[in-house]
Amino acid sequence: MIVNSKEAEADYQSVTKKWYGFRSKWFLFLITLGITITFLSLNPFPLPDQKKEYSSSEYQVVTVDGHQWYWNIAPVTIKAGQPVEFQVSAADVNHGFGIYDENLKLVAQTQAMPGYTNKLIHTFDKPGKFKILCLEYCGLAHHAMISELTVE
Ligand code: CUA
Repeated sequence: MIVNSKEAEADYQSVTKKWYGFRSKWFLFLITLGITITFLSLNPFPLPDQKKEYSSSEYQVVTVDGHQWYWNIAPVTIKAGQPVEFQVSAADVNHGFGIYDENLKLVAQTQAMPGYTNKLIHTFDKPGKFKILCLEYCGLAHHAMISELTVE
């Protein structure tokens, strides 16, 4: 059988054009589907919004200074139900400021770094005693950096 090569090429081009059109639409559909599924399956961010602005009367300010190997925290007694802004820094090396509840479950944390003041906003829902532990190895007595917060 003799096939006219020009004719065969023209037929082939029309099929190619049609399928390329379908392929780009299909690709766009898959990209959109992928992005949608990604956003729908994301969990809400587990920490409270750290950028939320409170008026100064709304929150309690607690200053935290990490030293080898103790914490300077003032005040150590705070009120429940009112946001607390921890202003966390360090005097010597990096420490990790971690707040734990009675069951030693971590409730909030931030880095304590020399030369920086990190702000950590946390609202304690109910009264209790909270432990402050160091979360970053900072030398020999790192494990001894234990302090306590009282929430009334
Ligand atoms: Cu401070 Cu470990």
